[in-house]
Amino acid sequence: MSNDTEAEALRLDAAEPGHRHLFHVPPADGGRYPEAAYLAGNSLGLQPRATRDELLADLDAWSRLGVEGHLAAERPWLPYHELLTAPAARLVGALPTETVVMNSLTVNLHLLMVSFYRPAGERTRIVIEDAAFPSDSYAVRSQARFHGLDPDSTVVRLAPRPGEDTLRTEDITGYLAAEGHTVALVLLGGVNYLTGELLDIPAITAAGRAAGAVVGWDLAHAAGNVPLSLHDWDVDFAAWCSYKYLNSGPGALAGVFVHERHHGDDSLPRFEGWWSTAAQTRFEMAPVSRPPATVEAWQISNPPIFAMGPVRTSLELFDSVGMPALRARSLRLTGYLERLLDEVTAGRPLTVITPREPRRRGCQLSVRIGAGSANELTKRLRHEHGVIADAREPDVVRFAPVPLYSTFHDCWRVADALAATVSEAAR
Ligand SMILES: Cc1ncc(COP(=O)(O)O)c(C=O)c1O
Repeated sequence: MSNDTEAEALRLDAAEPGHRHLFHVPPADGGRYPEAAYLAGNSLGLQPRATRDELLADLDAWSRLGVEGHLAAERPWLPYHELLTAPAARLVGALPTETVVMNSLTVNLHLLMVSFYRPAGERTRIVIEDAAFPSDSYAVRSQARFHGLDPDSTVVRLAPRPGEDTLRTEDITGYLAAEGHTVALVLLGGVNYLTGELLDIPAITAAGRAAGAVVGWDLAHAAGNVPLSLHDWDVDFAAWCSYKYLNSGPGALAGVFVHERHHGDDSLPRFEGWWSTAAQTRFEMAPVSRPPATVEAWQISNPPIFAMGPVRTSLELFDSVGMPALRARSLRLTGYLERLLDEVTAGRPLTVITPREPRRRGCQLSVRIGAGSANELTKRLRHEHGVIADAREPDVVRFAPVPLYSTFHDCWRVADALAATVSEAAR
């Protein structure tokens, strides 16, 4: 890549500095720049600088107050999760009563399937993507077995057309129109983890619901990446983790959305614990719960405060910058990376498999490599150029210019490193 292109990237960064200063960026492991070009926020987001102090403040409250912190801490622990509710709801386009932060993603998917996967008669199928994240595959297969069904015939995996890498909306809605009477649950990734494809959530939700199925979404790669309007799109339920675009740390807590039309429905089976009963009844120590008519009825345990602190800090950041501004920057950064990748992939055994239309993707661009291993390539990018991306074996490398902290220069470094690492002769 030419010096002129690098100068252009630096000019773009000077004109639009972004919010990198709010984050800890790891040092580079190689190459000629001190900081890493961190393109792996689709896997684990970077640490906001504010997180440590906020977390320490919660720890201090414990040391000063002991059990009294439940009520007397500056941020009392008993209702701590409520601090996360409104910002999480804003992030996914939900009512506060429809959103709660709890547990981890796959656990939440299971808890939601307890309520929303209810196979009956010929309506037993669960529809997922063929390239679903393995955890989702295992989860739905185990749900089928839990209901005494054969996972091989119960779980339908929708694949792209031969020779294509991503799903077409009309193929998904077409399947639902033709076979929807056999489908109990549609559970798809809003943004696919491998290809970075953003599905048409409202159209697919409408098609699934019109067919009489329940429609849920795994938004691990969508939350904090693309604008969402779960309430208006009539989504039945959704869950997402907070360690990717939401920068809340490894294994961070997950979010849950249940549309308000399901609230207070006593016919829904649900697993319960003491946090499922309405807050004002929690210490009556009654043997029978009285759940609120909100998503909080799906909570089970008391909130893990030190895991919630980083989510709270991160959501405040999203609130202060706002998803519309982030999406606008994301479109510019991702479009810029795409343009540079087009220059590098021409003549090299590399293919961008993420959809080319910006409305069909978030910030992740996935590149299929035609020779060598994805793991080996990401190792070389990291150790020789200080570029951190992530590999999905055998042949996909994912690059995510995250609008909060990635820069145009990071995008330039990706293209420059690929050009230096993947030889044109290898084709
Ligand atoms: C799409 C998707 N679903 C599920 C998971 C699993 O999440 P967890 O380990 O938090 O349950 C991941 C993790 O990366 C994911 O990307």
